[in-house]
Amino acid sequence: MENQLREQILKLKKDKNAVILAHYYAPAEAQSIADHVGDSFYLAKVAKNSAADIIVFCGVSFMGESAKILNPDKKVLMPDLTADCPMAHMVAEGKIKEMRDRYDDLAVVCYINSTAELKRQSDVCVTSSGAIKIVKALPNKNIFFIPDRNLGKFVAAQVPEKNIIINDGCCPIHAAITKEQLLAQKREHPTAPILIHPECEPELLEMSDYIGSTAEIIDYVSKSPLDEFIVCTEDGVDYQLITDNPEKRFYYPEPRPCCVDMKLNTLGNILSVLEKEDNEVIVDETVVREARRPLDRMLELGR
Ligand code: 13P
Ligand code: SF4
Repeated sequence: MENQLREQILKLKKDKNAVILAHYYAPAEAQSIADHVGDSFYLAKVAKNSAADIIVFCGVSFMGESAKILNPDKKVLMPDLTADCPMAHMVAEGKIKEMRDRYDDLAVVCYINSTAELKRQSDVCVTSSGAIKIVKALPNKNIFFIPDRNLGKFVAAQVPEKNIIINDGCCPIHAAITKEQLLAQKREHPTAPILIHPECEPELLEMSDYIGSTAEIIDYVSKSPLDEFIVCTEDGVDYQLITDNPEKRFYYPEPRPCCVDMKLNTLGNILSVLEKEDNEVIVDETVVREARRPLDRMLELGR
């Protein structure tokens, strides 16, 4: 059954000149059929440069929207249009304007995990992999970092020369991981380093050995001579970690962190959008124009 689905997807993909992109948190079945798998920064770059007629984005809505904004002439489809990132909406109405009124020299730095509407009101976007570099490179002294408070605090600690005002949003999956869950794994596997995503709470980052984006964590494991790791992020990364390092062992906080929205990207849904070409990501033209600037700036500064 699964093989049949795969064959149908591959055939339609070829016939329609489509490309499938998948985030590391998408289910293993989606990652295994994708043309490109990566973190948010890598996938934004691939989407911008894609020559395919159709981009099928196995991620959540801010990723599909970003792909459309960066490559507006392409048809961007999502296997399930309801796949959304709750954090992407966590900036109170009017908050950006309030901050701009309060500070003359303010840059609004917007984590890519945000709606297109928030992006268009921002000066630059960042992902978890390039946030520090980009914030450091900005000429502004005052930074309003939206929407993630944990990534914001992580960046602020690395860039003390700036006045970083942090919005109070968070990823419900990463922010729910507790110190006790991590300590329990450390007791079981005392020699395994803790690798953590910066969306986790600061007290967890403090007890970790390496902080990075999904791609950076995967890269760290591949380059490490060690053979076991405590991985503190959404458990979709397990597929790539095991594929690249079959001899190594990975442990996660229990229960394993799981982003239910990401898991909506099933093979059945991928086939369905390729067949019907429905679930198209539509972004208003003005929003595309205005939200493109901070995304382009991110790709430029994050290179
Ligand atoms: P990355 O930028 O590490 O891919 O993370 C995206 C994300 O949604 C984290 O929760
Ligand atoms: Fe959003 Fe968190 Fe899911 Fe990432 S893991 S897409 S930040 S809800």
